[in-house]
Amino acid sequence: MGDPATKSDPPFEVVPTGAAVGAEIRGLDVRTLDDATFLALRQEWLTHKVLLFRGQSMSDDDLVAFSKRFGPLDLAPASATDNVGSQEKSRPDIWIISNVVEDGKPIGALGSDEAEWHTDMSYVDQPPMASVLYSLEIPPSGGDTSFANMVTALDALPDDLRAKIEGRIANHDSSYTSVGELRAGAEPVTDVTKAPGARHPIIRTHPESGEKALYLGRRSNGWIVDMDRAENEALLDALWAHCADPRFSWTHQWRKGDLLIWDNRSLNHKREAFDPKSRRVMHRCQIKGDTPA
Ligand code: SIN
Repeated sequence: MGDPATKSDPPFEVVPTGAAVGAEIRGLDVRTLDDATFLALRQEWLTHKVLLFRGQSMSDDDLVAFSKRFGPLDLAPASATDNVGSQEKSRPDIWIISNVVEDGKPIGALGSDEAEWHTDMSYVDQPPMASVLYSLEIPPSGGDTSFANMVTALDALPDDLRAKIEGRIANHDSSYTSVGELRAGAEPVTDVTKAPGARHPIIRTHPESGEKALYLGRRSNGWIVDMDRAENEALLDALWAHCADPRFSWTHQWRKGDLLIWDNRSLNHKREAFDPKSRRVMHRCQIKGDTPA
């Protein structure tokens, strides 16, 4: 006979996307999670890699409090310009992603262009393990965010490509944002072998699940350390073409009040462009990670 004082089902529903990553969690207000519910949720996050919560109603303090349950926060990344409005400057733990301009200054980063496939802030030595993104204003169309599972991408990598990257290190350029804008204070990159940033193994092991994943950062200005430039470009093109295969990915169409948390240690993501005349306002927290190994 089971002990009635032991495990009960968590008070939420898990609805997998049916794609290579992601699940929607239904029935929760993330502002009011008890410890047991949070632990069950964290396990779902490790399993599905990106979780979606619809219909949340969160202040910046709520976003920070929820994010901090996963671990201490990282500061927001450097934007393309120092000329951002006072809203972004007021909360160093929140990164505002927006195309909205107020009083002649963008209130946030990344504008309305496409953001290339990337994993967040891999150009630092200890990139954030997770990002938490909350939608405050959403355009009528466009601006979808896609996630690609780098564990399944590595598993499916042809043997010849895998042999070329086993044991290799890549440099992750820090000069440009994912929409290709030069970050404040950075110099244009003219030679990828001299790009600033951080160096990480191309195949990394997830510190919690033990899964191996491709860890490429972003295509722009990537360099496989000690590789000849022509060979580097050809190999990176082949690896990124493989990773872009839709069988590894899931695309999220945003609604106001959506909250996503994703695992940067095993996923890439990208954002579609949208009409610059419409408004998109998102607030993001990033949770500290450790050195990729
Ligand atoms: C990002 O975190 O790279 C931006 C994603 C988005 O704006 O949807």
